[in-house]
Amino acid sequence: MPVQTVKEGDYDGIREEIKKVMKQPGYDDGSAGPVFVRLAWHASGNFSLVEHNGGSNGAGMRFPPESVDPANAGLHHAISFLIPIQAANPWISHADLWTLAGVTAIETMGGPRIPWQPGRTDYTGAAAAEEHRGQVGDRLPDGAKGADHIRDEIVALSGAHALGRCHADRSGFDGPWVVNPTRFSNQYFKLLLTRKWTPRKWDGPFQYEAVVAGTRLMMLPSDMALIEDAKLRPWVEKYAADQDLFFKDFSLAFAKLIELGVDRDDTGFARLVKKAAQEGKPLDKVLVVGGGCPFAGAGSKGREAKL
Ligand code: HEM
Repeated sequence: MPVQTVKEGDYDGIREEIKKVMKQPGYDDGSAGPVFVRLAWHASGNFSLVEHNGGSNGAGMRFPPESVDPANAGLHHAISFLIPIQAANPWISHADLWTLAGVTAIETMGGPRIPWQPGRTDYTGAAAAEEHRGQVGDRLPDGAKGADHIRDEIVALSGAHALGRCHADRSGFDGPWVVNPTRFSNQYFKLLLTRKWTPRKWDGPFQYEAVVAGTRLMMLPSDMALIEDAKLRPWVEKYAADQDLFFKDFSLAFAKLIELGVDRDDTGFARLVKKAAQEGKPLDKVLVVGGGCPFAGAGSKGREAKL
């Protein structure tokens, strides 16, 4: 079904268009849903509370350095699948569309409804992105690293690895985490706890594997860190035992994630903030919806930030 123009402000109409383009029979497991979720997460997860830049506002991944950041490899597929919707509906910003695609994909694949608000603004070009954003590289978590790299809310969010797969030509890692990777569930947590994960013998990066129902599944070192770390493991156990709790916590954490750095005014419009920290804006006065992101400052500058 071709993408259609919907009335300005009709975000439910846009959700229907997103559902249409999620169906991609020739791509991965037949759905663009997982890569939409990853797009929303990477667009948002590079927010830094310390420098107060990054985050979903602006849709910076359309321009270097984010567009060429190896951490974002493969996300151009998600951006391209969504371009026809934006072309037919130029009233919606890419930044709103990417985050709406993430929450729509989660819900459509059987996950919880996630609160979402419009109002994000796009950078007009690479120069505007650089002026407002500064350097936002090295902030997203690294799959090859362990628990000190990860914070507690990430446990719920990592449940998104029930969706999609790793691609050898993108991250270097290979394979899905669960048998049915287009269904949102707490399977990832269950499998983490119940299977014997052994190092895969291959010439790729270090990862774990287990064969389940004839399918070779994988875990990243950062996934295994969730059960190896004494503070994080109880959350894995809770989410494995209680899918409703997982859905509730995931919904809250993801809603918070996609709001990072989106400072709306009274009209709901989120203007583009220029490197606020450098302009002397006191950091403790900076509005951060929900109090900050578990990954804020996962990169070098923000790692010491106290949230
Ligand atoms: C410790 C934090 C995390 C690390 C190290 C990590 C790492 C990775 C890696 C290496 C891939 C494979 C990329 C590829 O080869 O295509 C991946 C895929 C994915 N990640 Fe994560 N991730 C993390 C957290 C998250 C979070 C918080 C979410 C969402 C809430 C998420 C959602 C996804 C999804 C849906 C995919 C599959 C994408 C696809 O099928 O194309 N991840 N992640």
